[in-house]
Amino acid sequence: MDFKLGEEYEMLRQSVRDFAEGVLAPGVVDRDEKEYFDRGLFEKMGELGLTGIPFEEKYGGAGMDYLAYAIAVEELGRIDASAADTLSSHVSLGVWPIWNWGTEEQKQKYLLPLVEGKKLGAFGLTEAGAGSDAIAMSTKAVLDGDEWVLNGRKIFITNAEAADTYVVFARTRPKEMRSKAFSAFIVEKGTPGFTFGKFEKKMGLRGTQNCDLVFEDCRIPQENLLGQEGDGFKMSMETLDGGRIGIAAQSVGIAQGAYEIALAYAKQRVQFGKPISALQAIQFKLADMALEIKASRLLTYDAAWRKSQGLEFGTDAAMAKLKASETANRVANQAVQIHGGYGYTRDYPVERIMRDAKICEIYEGTSEIQRVVIGNSILR
Ligand code: CAA
Repeated sequence: MDFKLGEEYEMLRQSVRDFAEGVLAPGVVDRDEKEYFDRGLFEKMGELGLTGIPFEEKYGGAGMDYLAYAIAVEELGRIDASAADTLSSHVSLGVWPIWNWGTEEQKQKYLLPLVEGKKLGAFGLTEAGAGSDAIAMSTKAVLDGDEWVLNGRKIFITNAEAADTYVVFARTRPKEMRSKAFSAFIVEKGTPGFTFGKFEKKMGLRGTQNCDLVFEDCRIPQENLLGQEGDGFKMSMETLDGGRIGIAAQSVGIAQGAYEIALAYAKQRVQFGKPISALQAIQFKLADMALEIKASRLLTYDAAWRKSQGLEFGTDAAMAKLKASETANRVANQAVQIHGGYGYTRDYPVERIMRDAKICEIYEGTSEIQRVVIGNSILR
């Protein structure tokens, strides 16, 4: 075992850190306050090669692996959780299924612009009646001649209207067939019958967009079926296994950012005639933060490494996501606590970071669902 990252990973970390500090940091407060998704920033991530980190060069990617991808998401999350979320939703959920299950024809048509960051991807699974219980989806797709006709509504979809290419899950067989009743489809923005519904006003991640995807007799070509008909549910689960590594990495980054800010503040904030970092009450908080972040990072890198090696990684990804998202929330909460009253104001970044952290315990499977996944694997 070698816990030291190779030079190529450290170089990538440094270049993403430079980008995050130089390009993302100046507007992060503004984007949060205005609830503004900046498409130009996504395009810059594409130019830097971040949108294609784990994909082969022949598809426009960087030919690196999921560990490199996790490091990049972590570094974005350290400065701007919204940017980390945009990249993670794009790569893990929007692009990876097409890379993994797409035919060569689908890859040539859809994968290349996504990998290069010229197009933005999204993933449509969740519905009003199907959140944690994903199998309860009611969106339907019916084959009519050589077209699939989609009807239904997806909610909370990250990258929302800004995306160009959507991987959408729908029922193609009778409900009684449970996990074998669903299929996955590639749907392009602009397809007649595909519109956008309610835009969410969120607690955090306000530099990203989330909205409903509405399908009303939306006709897509038969060849836009992704993978095998009937395999959709398992495909969605496998995609989320990988997605959870991205959310774990984003959480590690959020925690790291909050910790660094709290540490710097504790060293300069004077109370009782000395910096509060001299107080053991504050030192213990900082010690717990550092410990939890290290544990979360190791779990995250391990899950990413396992995926890259082609090993089983679903349970490891659930463990990493569970631990890291809870760490991000605890660390952000304690960072606000260390700042005292100032931390509760919008003059200090920890308030935003605490709001951004919360969703990590919810999306791509709540903490409760991660425990279900881990529990099932222990008892299987
Ligand atoms: N990989 C492959 N197959 C899997 C799988 C996995 N990880 N997990 C389950 N399956 C298979 C099972 O083997 C089973 O197959 P058979 O029917 O052939 O036996 C089938 O799927 C059904 O599995 P379960 O019986 O375990 O299904 P369940 O209904 O009990 O639900 C669950 C399992 C783990 C709770 C699942 O529904 C789940 O993960 N829910 C959470 C959904 C989620 O994470 N949603 C996030 C939305 S996307 C998002 O948040 C994106 C964003 O905003 C950025």
